[in-house]
Amino acid sequence: MKCRRCEEQAVVEVRHAHAAYCPTCFVERCREQVSRAIGEHRMIRSGEKVLVAVSGGKDSLAVWDLLLDLGYPADGVYLGLGIGGYSDRSGDCARAFAERRGATLIEIDLASEVGFTIPQAANTRRMPCSACGLAKRHLLNKTALDHGYDVLVTGHNLDDEVAVLFGNTLQWNMPYLARQRPALPESSGFARRVKPLVRLTERETAAYCVIRRIDYIVEECPMASGNRHLLYKELLNTLEERDPGAKATFLNGFADRVAPLLDDLAAQERDSVGTCSRCGSPTTAEVCAFCRLRDQATRPPRRRKKRRRDRSVHAEESPVTGGESRRP
Ligand code: FES
Ligand code: ZN
Repeated sequence: MKCRRCEEQAVVEVRHAHAAYCPTCFVERCREQVSRAIGEHRMIRSGEKVLVAVSGGKDSLAVWDLLLDLGYPADGVYLGLGIGGYSDRSGDCARAFAERRGATLIEIDLASEVGFTIPQAANTRRMPCSACGLAKRHLLNKTALDHGYDVLVTGHNLDDEVAVLFGNTLQWNMPYLARQRPALPESSGFARRVKPLVRLTERETAAYCVIRRIDYIVEECPMASGNRHLLYKELLNTLEERDPGAKATFLNGFADRVAPLLDDLAAQERDSVGTCSRCGSPTTAEVCAFCRLRDQATRPPRRRKKRRRDRSVHAEESPVTGGESRRP
C-alpha cells in the first residue's frame, strides 16, 4: 500500500476515508482533522486558556499532543479516581507526557478532594461508570472554572460520539440528544466543553500515539465491564466492518439534519438550570447529583445497605436506565 499523499510506504489504513498514509502524512492528516473540527465548531478562539481533561489513555494524550503542536498552549488536568493499580498507571502516563512536553498538569485526587473514590461510589445505587462520569463532569468543570480556563477539552473521538448517539437514539433521550454537540457553549456555571477528536476514530488516535511514541494506558478500566457504552461500540464496529463509513454517516447526518431541530430544546434545557443549594454547581434540582452522590458514597455502610434495597425498586421502575438520574 502506498501513502495517498506522498506515495511512500503506507503504515496506517483509514478505511472510512478509503486511504492509507505513511507516518508523516498520517500525523499531518490528524492535525488537519483536529484543526478542521476546531474551526468548523469554533471550539477555541485565539488567546483563550485551554484545559485538557487527561485520563492517561490514548485519546486524551493524543488530543493534548495535537493541540500543543497546533500552537495552543494547553494545560492538562488529571483526576485520580482511586481505582487501585489502574489509577496509578494512568497517572504515570499523564505525568510522563506532561514532563516530556514541558506542559502543566493539574492533579486532583478524588479521595482527598471530595472524600470518596470511584470504587466507593460504586457501592451506591449508581453503576460505577455512571458515578465516575458524574464525578468527572462535576470536578473537571469546577477545575476549569476555578482556574479561569475558557474551554475544557475532552478526548471523545468519533467512535465515542457515535456510541453515545446510538444509545441516546435507542432510548429516544431527547434532552441528551439536544446536548450532543462537538462543542457545548459556555453557560451559567459551565465552561465551554469541546471535542476536537470528533473527526478521528479510536484506531486513528491509537495509531497516532504509536507513531508519536506516546505511552498511554492500554488496559481497560477494571470497573467498566458490563458497560453499555462498550456494547454499543462492539455492535457499531461490526456494522463498520461490513459497511465502512457507516459510523461517520450516522454521526454527520445527525449533526447536519437533526441537531439543528433540537436547538430550542437545548436552549430550554440551559435555561432550566439553577444552582445547587450546597455547592453552587449548576443543577435542575435543589441539590445537585454530585452532592447527592457524595452523600451516598461517604455514608456509613449500614445505611448504604438500605440504599441497595432501594436500587431494586428503581430498577423495576426504569429497566432501561436502572433508575439513574439523567439530569445534572
Ligand atoms: Fe470511570 Fe472506569 S474510568 S469507571
Ligand atoms: Zn452540589
